[in-house]
This record gives sequence, C-alpha cells and structure tokens, in this order.
Amino acid sequence: MAENNYYVTTPIYYVNDVPHIGHAYTTLACDVIARYKRARGYNVAFLTGTDEHGQKVETAAKANGETPLELADRVVKRFQALWDKLNISNTDFIRTTQERHKHTVQEQFKKLEAQGDIYLGEYEDWYCTPCETFWTETQMVDGNCPDCGRAPTKLKEESYFFRMSQYQDQLLEYIEENPDFIQPKSRRNEILSFVREGLRDLSISRTSFSWGIPVPGNDKHVIYVWFDALTNYISALGYPEDKDGQFKTFWPATHVIGKDILRFHAVYWPTFLLAAGLPLPDKVFAHGWWTVEGQKMSKSLRNVVEPNMLIDKYGIDAIRYFLLREVPFGLDGDFSHSSLIHRINSDLANDLGNLVSRSTAMLGKYFSGQLPEPGENEEAEQKMIALVEKQLETVDKHLTDLSFNKALMAIWELISAGNKYIDETAPWALAKDPDQRKRLATVMYTLLESIRIIALLVAPFMPETGKNILRILGCDSTNLSLNEQDQWGGLQAGTAIEKAAPLFPRIENE
Ligand code: MSP
Repeated sequence: MAENNYYVTTPIYYVNDVPHIGHAYTTLACDVIARYKRARGYNVAFLTGTDEHGQKVETAAKANGETPLELADRVVKRFQALWDKLNISNTDFIRTTQERHKHTVQEQFKKLEAQGDIYLGEYEDWYCTPCETFWTETQMVDGNCPDCGRAPTKLKEESYFFRMSQYQDQLLEYIEENPDFIQPKSRRNEILSFVREGLRDLSISRTSFSWGIPVPGNDKHVIYVWFDALTNYISALGYPEDKDGQFKTFWPATHVIGKDILRFHAVYWPTFLLAAGLPLPDKVFAHGWWTVEGQKMSKSLRNVVEPNMLIDKYGIDAIRYFLLREVPFGLDGDFSHSSLIHRINSDLANDLGNLVSRSTAMLGKYFSGQLPEPGENEEAEQKMIALVEKQLETVDKHLTDLSFNKALMAIWELISAGNKYIDETAPWALAKDPDQRKRLATVMYTLLESIRIIALLVAPFMPETGKNILRILGCDSTNLSLNEQDQWGGLQAGTAIEKAAPLFPRIENE
C-alpha cells in the first residue's frame, strides 16, 4: 500500500439476520475513519458487503420456502438501504455470491493446495451449527459451544484441511513484533495465548450441505464459510490478477470487526495470507458489543434495536454521534433511550447547537450578518487559536488509534471553549460601547472561525451537520478537506453568514 492510500473494511454481514444496531455500529466506525482519512488527503477504499453462503443461510431459506440466493437478494437490499440512509460512504459492496469473489476464493484454494498447504483428510469433532464452528472436547464449556452455549453435535466427515499449524511460529513472531496489529491490547493478549497454545490444522471444506463455493476439482465439497468469507477483503480488490491495480494500491487493510470474530481475523486470516505469501493486515481492531437497556440483544427477547426506526425518530447524525461517543471503542456498551436523549439534548442541542446559533445570531445583530475584519488578537483569542491547533492534533492522534469517543471529547473541549469564550468576552457588553467596535469584530471573527474548524472536525462523524454549518458560514460545503482548510484564518471578512436555525431540536420527554 502506497503511503497515501488507505483501505478499511467492515465484516461482511450474514444475510440470515436483518441489520441491527450492532451491524450499524461497525459500519459507522469504518465510515468515520474513511471520511476522516479522505479529509486528510488519503485515497480511500472502504469495503463492506454480505456473507451469503453456509448452512445457516441454506436452512433459513428452506424455512422461508425460497432459494438461498432469493433470501440473500432480499436481505442484501435491506443492508444497502440502511447504509444509504446512514450516509455510509463505502466505495464497494461485495457479495460472496458474486463471480469475482468466487473466482478469488477458488484461485486461493488451488494455489494453497498446489503448494501442499491444503490436503484431504477426515474430520471428527463437535460442530456447533449456529456458529458454524468445530470445537475440541477441551474448548467446550460443560459440553456446550463456548460461544453460544448451545449443544454441538459430533460430526465426522471427509474434509480438506489447511496446514494452519505450519504458520504458528510465523504468526506469533508477527504479532509479537507488531504491537499495534491486534487492538485493543487486552484482545491482543487473548490471541497471543490462543496461538501459543498451539494451532491445529483447520478444516476448510464441508460435505454436509451444498450452499457454498465448490472446492475446485471436487464438487462434493463446498469451501468452509470462513475461508470463503475472509477472502472477500482481497477478492474485492481483484486479487490475484489485479487487472485494475487495486490490490497493489490498497492492500493491506485495516479490519474493523466485533470481538466475537477476532480469532477468525487475527489467527485464521493471517495464516491464509502467510501461506499465500501476502502481507498481513495493517490492523485488526475488535470493538465491543452493545447490550440494550442492560440486556443482550436477541430476537427471542424482542429487544433488537432497529436502526431505521431510531433514525426516523432522532435523525441520522444524532445516531451516528451517539453510537461513537457513548462507549469507548473496544469496550462493551449499553444502548438506552434515556442516554441517547440525554446526549442529544446536552451535547448536540446545548453545546454544539447553542454555540452555532448564539454566534450567528450575534453576528446578525451586531454586524448585520457580515463577517467583520478582525483587529488585534488579545490573550483570549491567542488561547482559543492555540486550543484549535492543539485539538486538531489531538483528534488526529485519537482517530489514528480508532479512539472515536476520545476524538469526539477533544472536539467537544473546543466547543465548550467556544461557549466559554462567549461568556468571558461578553460581546453584548462590547456592543454597547462604540469604542469597542474593533474588539467586538475580533471576538466575532474568532468565534466564527473556530466554528468553521469545528464543522470540519465533526463532519466525519456527522456529515450533514458539518456541511450544514459550513453552508451557514458561507463556505463551500462540498469541500470537507481538513488538509486544505485547517489553517486558522480561512474565513474571509465580508462573508455573509446567516443566522442558524437550531441544528438539533431539544427532545422534551427526557
Ligand atoms: N459473516 C460474519 C463476518 C465475516 S467477516 C469476513 C459475521 N457476520 S454477522 O452479521 O454475524 O456480524 C457482523 C458484525 O456485527 C460482527 O463484527 C459483530 O461483532 C457485529 N455485531 C453483531 N451484534 C452486535 C452487537 N450486539 N453489538 C456490536 N456489534 C455486534 O460475523
């Protein structure tokens, strides 16, 4: 990957479930980082998609009286519609049923088989159908699947195996030498101890169902869903032929995933890549899980939070903000309506909304909405400008670490400083004194210029709000580049600035 290119991926979502807030969370996080990197001048590839093969999909389709592809087509539309609605800026959408994907998976299989990394053997172990995972006796908890707690069944079948054991030492060395490869740290330690315990060869084909990519040369077998699914990250780039040079340009990726699928991404996937002689991912970041009002989200509890309903009620940007602000990325969090409403009222309506509406209203009142030429900066302005510069760096650092909530806190420090600056400089008092006209001009300029940079900083999180504020400020709302516009002094004196309508109406039934 050349220096100025950035590749970020979401997991590909199973089509046997409809999108919920957990899926939206992963995708949103990737969208924020993709937008931020673009604002920082990167050429960004942002991939999401759907995982459509496997027994679960086959079974769900049968139960609905449709073919697996009909089911997939139907559910894929729901995912795509939600991503449109949430303003997701993905540059590609991959479906594992697409020819381009099947081709890459089969090529990969053939390559590894030809070099002796895949062999035919027999498998006998405990298989958890809902999780599509085999478990050994020692991995199970009280005889049940350690992930979902359900009872696995004993399965014996002919299977192709990948020599994962061969790559254990190389993987271990890589993880040890690259402390930022797996994040957060606690998760990295889990993976390290898992790998140190020893990697077994991995069964990568199934004969017990047929909805999958056939093993090249033996179509009694379909390729195991994880070998199939993980390959999406390179099939979308046109690997191995790389006709458009996408693979060469963008690989390796930053993978953002939930903690439940870390082992697949931090152990299986890297060993497949090592076998293929490909560079390992830049970063695998496992975020935590959302519970809802204190409970695990599940269909049977009927508490699955449906993002469409939330967006219709509270607005896209409020939901985008809440999900990334409420919980440190990497930790579990709880979704509750009261905390959502509280954040909207206090952070969005009060802090940000008031800063913009107070400032633009005062400009309207004191300068008929025309931005004046500032005079000499005093200590208060110097402090404000220094803080803007500092927070630009702080946000950059936190976003590089995918610490979304810390980045937002840093932006909100700036917003609070803006509100405090108003209270301290008291423009209404300056306005009463004709001798303070220049001072008042400096204060108004400083405020509105701070808001311009705040708008650019919030834009990756809340694109519509960022654009809206820029439009109010008379700026080009299609240019969200921070690289081009993060220098103090971008607003031109004489610009007409309208009085802003409330950005976020308060929600009364808190
Ligand atoms: N298809 C696999 C991924 C293959 S990637 C090569 C899969 N799909 S999934 O649809 O079940 O899950 C997709 C993502 O949604 C995972 O990252 C998972 O962690 C996330 N979430 C599902 N429920 C969630 C919550 N309740 N909270 C947060 N994220 C959750 O796994």
